[in-house]
Amino acid sequence: MLLLGMNLKEKPTCFGCQRKSFSKRTQSLSRSSATSGKSPNCKNKTHSSIAYFFGNGSDEVIDLLIRVFCEPRVDHIITVPPTYGMYQVSASIADVEIKQILLTSDFQPNVEEILQTANAQSKILFLCHPNNPTGNALDAQAVTRLIKGFPGIVVVDEAYIDFAASSFLSLVPHHSNLVIMQTFSKAWGLAAIRLGMGFASLEVIHYLNKVKPPYNINILTQQAVLQALEKEEQQHEWVKIITAERDRLTQFLPHFEFVEQVYPSDTNFLLVKVQQPDHLYEYLVQQKIIVRNRSKVPLCEGCLRITIGTKEENTRLLVALKGYQ
Ligand SMILES: Cc1ncc(COP(=O)(O)O)c(C=O)c1O
Repeated sequence: MLLLGMNLKEKPTCFGCQRKSFSKRTQSLSRSSATSGKSPNCKNKTHSSIAYFFGNGSDEVIDLLIRVFCEPRVDHIITVPPTYGMYQVSASIADVEIKQILLTSDFQPNVEEILQTANAQSKILFLCHPNNPTGNALDAQAVTRLIKGFPGIVVVDEAYIDFAASSFLSLVPHHSNLVIMQTFSKAWGLAAIRLGMGFASLEVIHYLNKVKPPYNINILTQQAVLQALEKEEQQHEWVKIITAERDRLTQFLPHFEFVEQVYPSDTNFLLVKVQQPDHLYEYLVQQKIIVRNRSKVPLCEGCLRITIGTKEENTRLLVALKGYQ
């Protein structure tokens, strides 16, 4: 039996190259003349008040933002766990302190506590919309209040935005402290080529370019992205299929006795609370189905994170779960 990886957060491999509405965004952004980015063949041009930047995955954007804006052992970043782990990893490598303020019980940022904690040394607040690993979209009012009230840069990581209803990208021209990150790694299934984007004011992008190694978006990555961008309709179809499958699993999973809660998701994965997460995780491994055990993560106690696969893969998961009952 084939090993089924429902732990990786990417689109299923059998779907082929996907495309997202990024091309529309780049077209509309390429009207003005200023350029950003260091790769000679990447025409990452800028709008008058939005610039964009290509990184080796959005992980590189995270790393560069911390190195640009934070002074080691003096400044700190704020993260809102449970969330994506690389904010913490990159800050630790840069010797930058991390202040953590838990999400509320409905997985929203605790605006009051964040703003009370923030001071002149709070250089970056990392938000993830929709959030990994909880899957939910962030409340627009809460995010806007944070952008307005936070003294430093507010990063909204939109790695899963293709599966969500709305983006915060349109706020960039209005807030010089806002950075939006997106990536080709998730809905496009192109994690291996390493291409992430940061959208921000010209000034922020200018500083990122100052520390970016020259020519580090290689030609093979550029070619792969351009090929992917030729298939926009296919991309929309895949996203539709995945969201339909997400809805199918969301409806089906609560029928199992051992499933306590399926959290609403705006991503291509589901956070599922079950009775004995470690036991169920091991059972699925025996069935050659790999999910992510998040049960030790604060606020995710008892939870497994399941990435949505193809219709056949999801059906295989459901059949395996039936055997577990
Ligand atoms: C929320 C989030 N942001 C960023 C990334 C990293 O994306 P990239 O492959 O573009 O570095 C991930 C990957 O898992 C993620 O979950």
